[in-house]
Amino acid sequence: MKKQFNPSNYDIRTNYHLMISGISPRPIAFVSSISLEKDVNLAPYSFFNGFGANPPIVGFSPALSGRTGKPKDTLLNIQDTKEFTISIANSKMVGQVSLSSCEYKRNVDEFTKTGLTKENSTFVKPPFVKESPFSMECKLYDIIHLGNKPASGNLILGEIVNFHISNDIIDEKNIVDPHKLDAISRLGGSWYSKSKNGLFEYKKPRHIGLGFDSIPEKILKSKIITANELSILSSVESKPDIVANVYNKYNGEKMSNLEIVCKKFIEKDELDSAWTIISLINESSE
Ligand SMILES: Cc1cc2nc3c(=O)[nH]c(=O)nc-3n(C[C@H](O)[C@H](O)[C@H](O)COP(=O)(O)O)c2cc1C
Repeated sequence: MKKQFNPSNYDIRTNYHLMISGISPRPIAFVSSISLEKDVNLAPYSFFNGFGANPPIVGFSPALSGRTGKPKDTLLNIQDTKEFTISIANSKMVGQVSLSSCEYKRNVDEFTKTGLTKENSTFVKPPFVKESPFSMECKLYDIIHLGNKPASGNLILGEIVNFHISNDIIDEKNIVDPHKLDAISRLGGSWYSKSKNGLFEYKKPRHIGLGFDSIPEKILKSKIITANELSILSSVESKPDIVANVYNKYNGEKMSNLEIVCKKFIEKDELDSAWTIISLINESSE
């Protein structure tokens, strides 16, 4: 037995969830674009794929907001400036992918919010994500507007005009090693998948996260706290108050011990305590 759904009998939400949970896993395009005012934007899109090799065409679809019907910054920028880059998201950047999907204002640069690094493109103005092992520079080929209601898609097709691929992930025949690419993909709900070892859940922040730019430089440089852990820290809405007993207990500890303690608090999702340790690290003279 199979259950049938005629989409015209269901609301947008149901159809959307059927699509994203059934059409899966979907690869994730980390798309960078620039506005006419030169504001840089970065956002993830998983209605994404390649559509032809001659010319080499990629496509992805920024929908009109399901709540407000408004166009996303990525769509507005590409309509205006006709260029973009796509970087493939890997497992080290899942937290940053999720953080960058917060609805930051149009002039906010999500590279700053996620702590990711801009690398200059050769043929287009938008930069790409340095931390990604596989990026593409693209020029707009066409936009197909798929409706004008909330959640209507806008299929953006782009011609790839340049690839940037890390030497470490590609072999002498120019084939990318999937283990080394370590791509992540998106499924329904909060599910993602690591191509090389399967499903895991990662919940999107419920509010606009503070971003990497509110984490002190010393912690951003930590060799112990990973980018995914920094993403969890910087997903809070505002800096939590100091937790007095944690502060008093660890005051005077060595920087390297504090980093380990901070990591453990993040793992236990005790973010108030993790931020208290951040304050101690920030105050320390090491
Ligand atoms: C992994 C992931 C995939 C996403 N895929 C899409 C998508 O295919 N289409 C879409 O409209 N929004 C998608 N989103 C939501 C957008 O990233 C989000 O609306 C973001 O704020 C858009 O940013 P922008 O306005 O800067 O373009 C996705 C979010 C995540 C976390």
